[in-house]
Amino acid sequence: MSSLSPFLEAASGQEPRHTPVWFMRQAGRSLPEYRALRGEGSILEAIKTPEIAAEVTLQPVRRYGVDAAILFSDIVVPVAAIGFGIDVIPGRGPVAEHPFTSRSDLTRLRPLEVDQDIPYVIETVRHVAAELNAQDTTLIGFAGAPFTVASYLVEGGPSRTFTKVKALMYQDPELWDDLVAVLADLSISFLRAQINAGAQALQLFDSWAGALSPNEYARFALPATKHVLESVSDLKVPRILFGVGTGELLGQMATSGADVVGVDWRVPLDEATQRIGNHPLQGNLDPALCFAPVDALEDATRDILRRGAKAPGHIFNLGHGVLPETDPDMLKRVVDLVHNEGRTLAKEAQ
Ligand code: CP3
Repeated sequence: MSSLSPFLEAASGQEPRHTPVWFMRQAGRSLPEYRALRGEGSILEAIKTPEIAAEVTLQPVRRYGVDAAILFSDIVVPVAAIGFGIDVIPGRGPVAEHPFTSRSDLTRLRPLEVDQDIPYVIETVRHVAAELNAQDTTLIGFAGAPFTVASYLVEGGPSRTFTKVKALMYQDPELWDDLVAVLADLSISFLRAQINAGAQALQLFDSWAGALSPNEYARFALPATKHVLESVSDLKVPRILFGVGTGELLGQMATSGADVVGVDWRVPLDEATQRIGNHPLQGNLDPALCFAPVDALEDATRDILRRGAKAPGHIFNLGHGVLPETDPDMLKRVVDLVHNEGRTLAKEAQ
């Protein structure tokens, strides 16, 4: 038996014992045991309590038998920890008290001092890693990509149109470059801290990159993302890059330094692999299908397993995060199907 977990086998292009599966946003949200533990208040407070954060990280592993745990944390943890003034409002997302509007706001973004600013993250990772060590389950650390984090700082909260971000990019491209350079350094420190404490893989979330045209992505987002991914290459852990609505950006994302590319549900994985080339893929079940009849959910899961077989490695996931109202039993069905039928379907399709 190989010493690597199925997740790490697939991420490095080796044949896994079974097709690995985990779900973005599996920690929290739809789990009743999460809601019971979490209570009221900002998620940032729950993240600051290692006993709670570690337990929430492990809950989906116990309930679903997924192949990876993702650390219970958030992409705005570093900016919040250095005092930018940002909170995460339940049901809404990150909101900045005073958004980033001008050059003087750069002074509000100092470097991250890991030991002082986020000791609780280190403690949570250590705790979870020790617990998962005995199993074949991989702990994934994560950070936000500079563009996506910048979008919250500049818009002041979630946005559909990204008008303020785009105005800033075009009005003052040098200030934009300085902003994403600072955010890249924060994400690098954040990722390095998690890997040093025991996380075995990392994911960079560029969730809203799909708001950019290919030219905008090349000019305003990809360089800082590349810098983050290249600055952690020495850690020798698989690096996953993910965004939503990125069908037209997949070719560029493949050049980012990412080992694995995450694909949302809009692009079939066999088509995605033609755009991406020689990289394992992660994805790509539409999270809304967990609300469809079971037959439809299972057919879609099988179709993804067959198409994923065309890539040099496939980690099954949703095409974006678990939706809050999702019935956990539907996710459990997906995990069991992927584990029981994944390799057989993949071999038939190859
Ligand atoms: O994936 C996981 O289960 C691990 C934990 C995790 C959280 N946030 C916890 C969380 C991860 C990986 C994230 C990443 C994150 N945070 C992203 C990228 C992933 C994606 O979905 O695209 C983004 C864009 C954010 C910013 C953010 N934080 C949003 C948009 C929201 C949603 C607001 C809501 O309530 O719908 C949050 C809050 C948040 N982060 C929750 C959780 C479990 C839910 C609310 C809560 O419990 O307070």
